[in-house]
Parts: sequence; structure tokens; C-alpha cells
Amino acid sequence: MSEHLPTTNEQPLPDPSVTVELKTIVELCKARGIIFPTAEIYGGVRSTWDYGPLGVELKENVKRQWWRSMVQLRDEIVGMEQAILGPTEVWQASGHLANFADPLVECAKCHQRFREDHLREEQLGAEDAEGDLICPSCKADTLGDPRSFNLMFKTNMGPVETAGSTVWLRPETAQGMFVDFATIQRTTRRKPPFGIAQMGKSFRNEITPGNFVFRTREFEQMEMEYFVEPGTDEQWHQYWIDERLRWYVDLGIRPENLRIREHGEAELSHYAKRTVDIDYYFPDESMGWSELEGLANRTDFDLKAHQEASGQDLTYYDQPNDRRYHPYVIEPAAGATRATLAFLFDAYRVESAPDAKGELQERVVLKLDKRLAPYKVAVLPLSKKESLTPTAREVFDLVKVRWMSEYDETQSIGRRYRRQDEIGTPYCVTVDFDTLDDRAVTVRDRDTMQQDRVPIAALESYLAERLPVC
Ligand code: GAP
Repeated sequence: MSEHLPTTNEQPLPDPSVTVELKTIVELCKARGIIFPTAEIYGGVRSTWDYGPLGVELKENVKRQWWRSMVQLRDEIVGMEQAILGPTEVWQASGHLANFADPLVECAKCHQRFREDHLREEQLGAEDAEGDLICPSCKADTLGDPRSFNLMFKTNMGPVETAGSTVWLRPETAQGMFVDFATIQRTTRRKPPFGIAQMGKSFRNEITPGNFVFRTREFEQMEMEYFVEPGTDEQWHQYWIDERLRWYVDLGIRPENLRIREHGEAELSHYAKRTVDIDYYFPDESMGWSELEGLANRTDFDLKAHQEASGQDLTYYDQPNDRRYHPYVIEPAAGATRATLAFLFDAYRVESAPDAKGELQERVVLKLDKRLAPYKVAVLPLSKKESLTPTAREVFDLVKVRWMSEYDETQSIGRRYRRQDEIGTPYCVTVDFDTLDDRAVTVRDRDTMQQDRVPIAALESYLAERLPVC
């Protein structure tokens, strides 16, 4: 693991002068069509968000990088995709129907509802601190007793609504890997240690969603269940903490903005022996250190629970030693939508740069890792003049085959550069009137703003040298 990565809860706060307000990110996302409220023309739906053309590219790139590091580059981890709708039996056996709940309090005066543990943390400094709470909305001391509120969404399958037709929207992707463990292990012939990975939507009826896409009721997870021999679980747990920290840093998150946090006894989920969170320091006053990913040692809880409930054998047969055992499970559980927000925060920079007249102007630039940038290349004809269009189109046709690219011919070139900086496009390729004579284009680098004149014939190899395979 890198020496710079913090591994204690006493990590000093990152530089307080580096602040980016959440509202700045929300405004940028809306202005550029990255992420915006669902059904906004009808007033929106609280806590659900749509990903526009750039947002979907960015989020899919985050997921792609996770899949690449977890599945593509490793031979002991395989992928899967489970259905989102699942029967009651799964969630009964997993313990979610009984335990997947948050403490809810309601104010007797204004009738607003809140998560009690969050109020304790905000008002008394810790989730389990003793003391009286006040309603954050109307400030009265009329909060009732906490009650357990189950976070699962329920619906019905089929035309007739009966007790037996109930199905649930999964609140985590993890259970797919346990329920399908035997089939996948048998068909892939993997031996512990081996993993099954899955990315996709999960749903939780959160009491207090908020902070943009940080906590929503519909979100995406990237989870991997790593099945190991009992007794080796603690060592594999540490291995995956280090690996996952490295993944965020490799994709551009500043190491000082990451820390790991150990769960206390009271905070541990019903299935966990030990859990460690990877927290990210969101440089907005209201967010600060917040969980990006949880890494749990789930022991053999899930496989045993599903074996007992289904009656199917979910042990692994260790042939050389002629014994059967339930593997222990180490689970790195990340949020794709939450990680997308962290990458946006960490990439956001305001710099000054000279304009065409040499005067310093403010430049907003998303210094996203090139692998995450929504568009890798923008092709910009200097003007809309028809004489430039065929060559500019020819250049676009050349680059779009290999890289997600954009063709943009509206507005002044300066404004188009600014827009591409704001959405994090690593390379702008400008086709100008000289191009018609010399068959060369100008390539501008997002970070250095340096410009190179490159023959069209050499453009593909020029970009390939600078854009990593992803
Ligand atoms: N299988 C274990 C599990 O689901 P979790 O800590 O509840 O663990 C894992 O969730 C990750 O999923 C979190 O670290 C977070 O990134 C993401 N996540 C959880 N709830 C979320 C929500 N309401 N909105 C957005 N992301 C969420």
C-alpha cells in the first residue's frame, strides 16, 4: 500500500482552504447536462436523479474501471448480474426483512421524520451519544421515541395481488452472489480464494436522502464477494482494504482526502465480524468525511443462512483434503453513484488562464483521470464555414471509432474550449483553415493547455500514446 494512505481514524483534516461547495457541483452538473433531477418538468421526485449524456458516460466509466480492476485483470474473480426483483425467501434468509432498518423519529409538532442516529451525530457528536434531541426543522423538543423503519421497497409480481406475489427490490447487490454461489462455483470451477462481482441498481427507502447523489433511494453499487478459507479471512480483509484504497488513488483521488474508519461494535451490520469504511473528505462544509465504500468480513453468515433456508448445499468441497466447508466472505462494497460524486469533487479546479488577448481569466476545469472523462476527444472546427466541415467530419469519423468523442461547431472557439475544460475532455482537436492546406490539426491538452500541431495521418497514434486503454 502507498505510504501516503492514511489508515487511522485520527487522520488530520485535509487543507481547509480547499473547499468546493456541493452547490457548485450541483450547478455544474445541471448546467452541463451531467446529472439533474428526475421528471423536473413535473417538479422532480425527491432524491432521484437522471444522468444526462455526460453523466451516463462518467458513471459508466467509473463502473468500467471497477469491472476492469475486479474482473478483467484478475483470473480468480468472475462477474454476474442478478435480477433486481427477488422473492421474500432471499430477504428473509439474509436477515434484511428483520434487520435492515434505521431508527426513525417523528416530531409531534411539525410531523417531519428523521433518522435518529444522524440527529445524535449532528447534535450530540456521536451516533450513540446520550442526551435530548430537538427537531431540526421546527426546533421543538417534541421528537417521539425511535421506531425501527425497514428500508426495503416492496411490490407485486403478476396480475393478482396476493401474499405470495410479493417481491422486493434488492437493497444490495451482494445477495445475488450468495444465492448463485453453488452454480457459479461449479460452472467456473474456481477454488477459494475466488470472487464473484456484480454492479447494478439497488434500492433503499432512506428516511433522509440528501446531498445530491450521495444518499438516494435508487442508486448503483459495485460489490464483490471474495470467498476464502476460514482462518485466512482476516489477512484477505486487509488485502482488500489496501487494494480498494489503491483503486481510488490510481483513478485520481488525492490520498489525503481518503481515510479508513473502523466500525464500532454498535455500528456493525448483523452479518459482519469486522467492517472498515473507506471515507472520502467531501470538501463541502455540510459533508466532510463520508463513507465511499464498506469492506466487511461477512464470515460464513450468508452461505449458512441460505443453505438453511433453501435446503441446498452451499459448502465448498476441498478435494485434496476431502472436507467440506462454508467459505468466509470478504466484501468490498462500493457505491458507483457515490464514487461518481467523489470523482467530480476531487477533479474540480478553478484556475486562471490567459484569454486570446493575454488577460487572465478564471478557468473551471474538471481534471478527471482520462479513463473517467466522459469524452476523450472534442473535434472543433474553428468556424462553421462550410469549407471546414468535410475535413472536420473526416477527423471526427477517424477518432470516434476508438474514443468517445464530441463534434462541436457552435460558439467561439474560446467558449468551446471552456466548455470542454468544464466537462473534463482531455483533448480538443481544432480544424482550421490551414488544415485545408497542410492536412494538420491543433491538439490542445486540457491540463497544460499546450497546443501541438499534428498531421491528421498521425493523429490516431498521437492520441493513442496519451489516452490509456480503458
Ligand atoms: N452489501 C453491503 C452493503 O450494501 P453498504 O455500506 O450498505 O453495504 C455499500 O453499501 C455502498 O453502497 C456504500 O458505501 C455507498 O457507497 C453505497 N450506498 C449505500 N446506500 C446508498 C444510498 N442510499 N445512496 C447512494 N449510495 C449508497
